[in-house]
Amino acid sequence: MLAGGLLVLLVVAMEMRCLLSFECSSNAPLSYEGNHRDFRASGVLTCSWVLTVPENYTVKLTITQMNVDSGGNFNCTNDHLQIRDGANSSLLAQICNSYPSSSVFRSSGTQMWVEYKSTQASNSFEASFKRLLNPSFCPRNVIANDTSGLLTSPFYPNNFPNDMDCSWDITGQAESRFVLIFRFLCLGICTSSLSQPCACDSLEIGDVFGARQICPQTELIPFISVENKISLSLVTDEQNSAKGFLAKYDSVFRLEECASMTQLTNTSGWFSSPGFPSSYPNNVECAWTIPIPPGLKIYLTFLEFDVEECGASCSCDYVEVAFTKAQSSQKKCGRIASGGWVLKNAINDEIVITFKSDGQGRQKGFEAVYTLVPQDAWESVPSAFCPWTDPAPTTEEIPTVLVDDASTERIPTAAIAQTARPSSDDSSATVTDSTTKRSSEGRGAVVVFTSGQVK
Ligand SMILES: *[C@@H]1O[C@H](CO)[C@@H](O)[C@H](O)[C@H]1NC(C)=O
Ligand SMILES: *[C@@H]1O[C@H](CO)[C@@H](O)[C@H](O)[C@H]1NC(C)=O
Ligand SMILES: *[C@@H]1O[C@H](CO)[C@@H](O)[C@H](O)[C@H]1NC(C)=O
Ligand SMILES: *[C@@H]1O[C@H](CO)[C@@H](O)[C@H](O)[C@H]1NC(C)=O
Ligand SMILES: *[C@@H]1O[C@H](CO)[C@@H](O)[C@H](O)[C@H]1NC(C)=O
Repeated sequence: MLAGGLLVLLVVAMEMRCLLSFECSSNAPLSYEGNHRDFRASGVLTCSWVLTVPENYTVKLTITQMNVDSGGNFNCTNDHLQIRDGANSSLLAQICNSYPSSSVFRSSGTQMWVEYKSTQASNSFEASFKRLLNPSFCPRNVIANDTSGLLTSPFYPNNFPNDMDCSWDITGQAESRFVLIFRFLCLGICTSSLSQPCACDSLEIGDVFGARQICPQTELIPFISVENKISLSLVTDEQNSAKGFLAKYDSVFRLEECASMTQLTNTSGWFSSPGFPSSYPNNVECAWTIPIPPGLKIYLTFLEFDVEECGASCSCDYVEVAFTKAQSSQKKCGRIASGGWVLKNAINDEIVITFKSDGQGRQKGFEAVYTLVPQDAWESVPSAFCPWTDPAPTTEEIPTVLVDDASTERIPTAAIAQTARPSSDDSSATVTDSTTKRSSEGRGAVVVFTSGQVK
C-alpha cells in the first residue's frame, strides 16, 4: 500500500515536472509564436515535442543549456536528446553530455522532433526554436556574364520575407571585376532597439575591402568585387519587412595599355600601370582621361599602389591625378594601402591620371577602379533605413544570367530576378508573417543612373 502510494506520488511528481517543463509529454505540439519559443525539461522522464513553423519556413533549434549525464554510456542510449528532421523521421542527432559538437540544428521542412530521455534526476536541458525561411527561397548563386545588370533582394519590389538568412555569390566573367552601386535600399528598422538599427535586418557585402555591413550612417561607396566574385548576405528578423534593395553592377576588365591619352568613357572602368601586377617598365608615360558628365560625380579608388619613391616631390616615378577645370592636382609615389587613395565627388570636370616612370627603379605599379554615380547618390546610409523617397524602381532591365546551383540548367533570368518579378499573386505577402508591421514601407526613391557609354 505504502509502496503503491509512493509510486503514485512519484508519478504525480514526475507529471508535475512534466508540466513545469512546458508541455512535456509524448509528441507535445509546439508551434512558432511570432518570435522564438523556449522549452525545457528536467529530471527522470521521457518526453518529446514536435516543433512546427509556418509553411515555407524551416525550424532552427538552438540548445541553450544542456546537462544530460549519460552515466558513462557513451552512445547516449539511456539519457539523451534526440533530434529528428520532421515530425518523427530521419535522425539528426542523439546527444548527451559527451557530445561535443554544434548545438544548432536546422530542419529541412516545417517540423522538427525533439525527445528528452533521462534516467537521472539531475539531468536537464533548455532549448529554443524559431523559424527561418526555407533556403529554397533564398537567392541562388548567380553567374553574371553581362557587362551590366541589376540585383535585387528576394521578391523585390515587394517586401522581402521575415526571418530569412540567405547568402549568395555573384560571379562574373574570368578576369573581370564588378562595380556595384545601390539604386534603392530599404531595410526594416527595429522598433524595439532604434539605437541599434542594424541589429534587425542586415545586409552584408563582401568586396575587395572586406565584408561590410550596410547600416544607417555607414559609408555607401561603390562596392568593388574581389576578383570576379562579390558576395551578399541578407539576414532579416521577425518584424518590419521592407522592400530591400535594387543594385546595379557593371563588369569591368583591366586596361593595361599605356598610351599618351586613353579616353575612359564607360560608366565604370578599371585600369593599371603597364604589365601590372608585374613591375612596370622604365621610361614610360601613360595617361587616362575620364570626363565627368553633368549630373554625375566620380568615385575613383586605387586598389593597389606601389610606385618607386624618391623624394617628397616624387621626382622619379609617380601617379598624378589632375582635375582639368578645377585646376588642381595630386601627385603620389611610394606605397599606399589598398583603398588609401580615393578621389570622389568631383562634378562638371574631367580627370586626367598620368603615370610616369624614369630610367631606373621599377615597382609593381598601380591599379585603379572608377565609377560615375548620380550626383545626388548617398555617400552614407541615412539614419533611417529607407533613404530613397520616391516609389521603388522596378526591374525592367532584368539581366540575363545563369543559376549556378546543383543544376546546370539554363534559365533566362537570375534566381534573384525571378523572385524579383512582380506578380499579382506574389507569395511574399503570405510568406511574411501576418503580424508584420510595415512602418518602414514606401519611403523609397529612385536614383537615376545612366548606364552604358557616357556621351
Ligand atoms: C550502448 O552502450 C552500451 C554500453 O555502454 C551497450 O550495452 C549498448 O549495446 C550500446 N548500444 C548501442 C546501440 O551501441
Ligand atoms: C518516433 O520514432 C521513434 C524511433 O524511430 C519511435 O520509437 C517512436 O515510437 C516514434 N514515435 C511516434 C509518435 O511515432
Ligand atoms: C559565361 O562566361 C564563361 C567564361 O567566359 C563561359 O564559359 C560561359 O559559357 C558563359 N555563360 C553564358 C551563359 O554566356
Ligand atoms: C567599355 O565597355 C565595353 C563593354 O561594355 C568594353 O568592351 C570596352 O572595352 C570598355 N572600354 C573601356 C575603355 O574600358
Ligand atoms: C509558400 O510558397 C509557395 C511558393 O512560392 C506559395 O505559393 C505559397 O503561397 C507560400 N505559402 C505561404 C503560407 O506563404
